[in-house]
Parts: sequence; C-alpha cells; structure tokens
Amino acid sequence: MTEPFGVYVHWPFCLAKCPYCDFNSHVRHAGINQGDFVTAYLAELAHFATLAPGRKVTSIFFGGGTPSLMAPETVAAILNRISELWPVAQDAEITLEANPTSVEASRFSGYRAAGVNRVSLGVQSLDDASLKSLGRMHTAAEALAALSIAKKKFERVSFDLIYARQGQTLPAWREELASALTHAQDHLSLYQLTIEPRTPFAALYAAGALTVPDGEKAEEFYLLTQELCDSAGLPSYEVSNHARPGAESRHNLLYWRGRDYAGVGPGAHSRITQDGGKHAIAIRKSPEAWLEAVAASGHGIEQDERLSPQNSADEYLLMGLRLAEGIDVTRLKAIDGRKLDDTRLQQLEAQGLVKRTHGRLQATDTGRLVLDRLIVELAA
Ligand SMILES: C[S@@+](CC[C@H](N)C(=O)[O-])C[C@H]1O[C@@H](n2cnc3c(N)ncnc32)[C@H](O)[C@@H]1O
Ligand code: SF4
Repeated sequence: MTEPFGVYVHWPFCLAKCPYCDFNSHVRHAGINQGDFVTAYLAELAHFATLAPGRKVTSIFFGGGTPSLMAPETVAAILNRISELWPVAQDAEITLEANPTSVEASRFSGYRAAGVNRVSLGVQSLDDASLKSLGRMHTAAEALAALSIAKKKFERVSFDLIYARQGQTLPAWREELASALTHAQDHLSLYQLTIEPRTPFAALYAAGALTVPDGEKAEEFYLLTQELCDSAGLPSYEVSNHARPGAESRHNLLYWRGRDYAGVGPGAHSRITQDGGKHAIAIRKSPEAWLEAVAASGHGIEQDERLSPQNSADEYLLMGLRLAEGIDVTRLKAIDGRKLDDTRLQQLEAQGLVKRTHGRLQATDTGRLVLDRLIVELAA
C-alpha cells in the first residue's frame, strides 16, 4: 500500500473575527481579489510539487479562516492544479470547512461540482444565546438548515460544536449534545472552549468577566461527551473527534499519525520527508505578505527545519497519543531508536492512564484528560 499524502489549503479570511479564535484568519472589509489569490495558490502548489514529487494524494483539505467564502471557481482551479501536479487517488477525501450561513450554503452545489466530497460545518452550538456570545453570525436554525443542505449535496458531512462554555451546565450540555447527535451523520468534532492568549475572550477572562468550567468540572464535561457519543455509536477516535468506525477524517488522521502533507496558503504548515528526514515547513501568515512573497519567489515559505530524529519521535508521540489507536511502538523506535521505559509504563498502566495492546501504546480516556503530563513522563 502506498503511504498516504495530503494537501492542505489555507484560506485566511472570515466575515468577522470570533472573539475566541486564534486561527490565522483576517477580516478585509474592502474585499479581496480572489484572482490574485488563485494565481498565488497555483504557483505555491507547483513549488510544493518539487518538494514532494510523485506522491499520491489521498486527501485534500480546505481549512481556514472560512473557506466557504471562496468562489467555487477558486476551489475548482486549485483542485485542477493539484491533479496536474500529483496523481490523485480515485477515492481521495476532499473536505471543505464551511460556516453555516445561508449565503455560504448557496455555494455548496458549486463546491460539489468542483470535486469536494466532504464538508465540515462550524455549527458551534445549538443554543442561540450561546451563539451570540460566541460572536457567531448565524442562529441554530440557520446552522441546522445549512447542515441539511450539506447532507443532501455531499457524501460526508461533519460538524463542530464548542462546549464547556460560559454558564453552561452539564444537564444543558447533555440535552444539546443529545440533540446534535440526532442530526449527526457519522462524524462530529467536539471542542472544549479554550481561552487562547491575545483574543478578546482572554482579555475578558483575565478581567474576571468570563468564566468557563475548568478542572474537575471540565473533566465532567469531557467524560459526559464520551459517554453520550459512545452510546450513539460515534466513539472518539481522537481527543476531540468522534466518528462511526470507518468514517474518521482521513486527512486529519495524517497529522496525528505523523504522515506527510503539503500545506499551502498563508500560515499553512507542512511535514515532508526528504532524503530520509522529516521537514517542518511554515508559510508566512500575513495574506498580503504571502501574495508578495509568492509573486517574487514562487512560494511564501518562511521556515524550513529538518527535524532531528528525536524531535520527530517526540512529535509522533505527542500527536499519536491523541488518537484512540495510540502509537506503534516499533515505529517510534525506528524513528530515533528510543525504547520506552518499561517500569514507567507499568506505573502508568497501574494508574489507568495507558494501555498496551499488540505492539501499540494507547492513552485511556482518563489518560487523555492528562495528556500533557503523560507525554512529559513518557518523553523523559
Ligand atoms: C478553523 S476553525 C473554523 C471553521 C469555520 N471558520 C467556523 O468557524 O465555523 C475550526 C474549529 O475550531 C474550533 N475552535 C476555534 N477556536 C476555538 C477555541 N478557542 N476553543 C475551542 N474550539 C475552537 C471551532 O469549533 C471551529 O469550528
Ligand atoms: S472561528 Fe471560524 S469564523 Fe470565527 S474567526 Fe475563527 S476561523 Fe473565522
């Protein structure tokens, strides 16, 4: 079997900036010229094809920002260029992240015609008051309407919710998630609200004007989430991602399984194996500076670091333990020769934080609650 390989395309614009979000997303009230961006994406893709020639593309992901603000023609031009530069698997997973406003849903047919076969919709909440305080520009009814259109147009549809929000109670989340599960197809991303530094939510939090469930309370939210999704047949395959077995996001699995992918567009990251070493490549974040760099040199790469075997192994451990399937211990050893300390593993097993099966090491549900600590202990 050939190794999977993904292409990530970052669209860095949104209609408004949500107060909790620290993704590389920008608002341009004066509008942007999509033609300039298409030219730059096509050029940067050609550059990445020289870094990862001949790889078979098994997944493509349009992320953001808000990729559902892209014209369908822009998406089509990018997909065409990808298939000119690399062989694309017949059954490639092609995902686009969409915001659930009616204007954006009107473009779904165009995306489908361009080749997109999976949509990930940012519903965030089914409660209107919460959507308002999250700064969202849609209601729950609009989100559900967009979801229903998406389900008709695409083979696969997932949606995102944010929980452990200000003022949210466990019974309220139980009800909201139970309702969400009735609308879910076979994949859900459920994120605990994170207070990201330098966001408006961080300022409110620091001033004591925003509180969120933390510590034990946050754990209760997490465990309730696992319980409800497990019984609905959508167990978590990653800390925040749930799917019916077989319906996992193949593209996102690449990241957690330590596989290669090329990321183009402002702020995108790549992991590309060259001459036996893994390269971590980062693209400049500012959309305008990126356009200029690509026009001048064919790419907007600002950093290209060849990871040491030790850094590569640490990354595999860090990402892999987020997955329910965990990591392949033999593969970890092949990366930097490391053998995990057996006594330490036995202690962690006795504490119910990890388990070992068929040459794999996995974090348990409880282990994934303290993943940062676990990884520090295992990497030591
Ligand atoms: C790239 S973002 C957004 C996609 C799309 N622009 C949207 O907002 O619907 C991917 C997801 O990350 C989640 N997210 C962003 N910031 C978060 C935060 N501070 N805490 C928890 N989840 C967050 C949201 O659920 C969001 O849908
Ligand atoms: S959450 Fe989505 S819509 Fe909101 S600012 Fe971030 S990327 Fe844009």
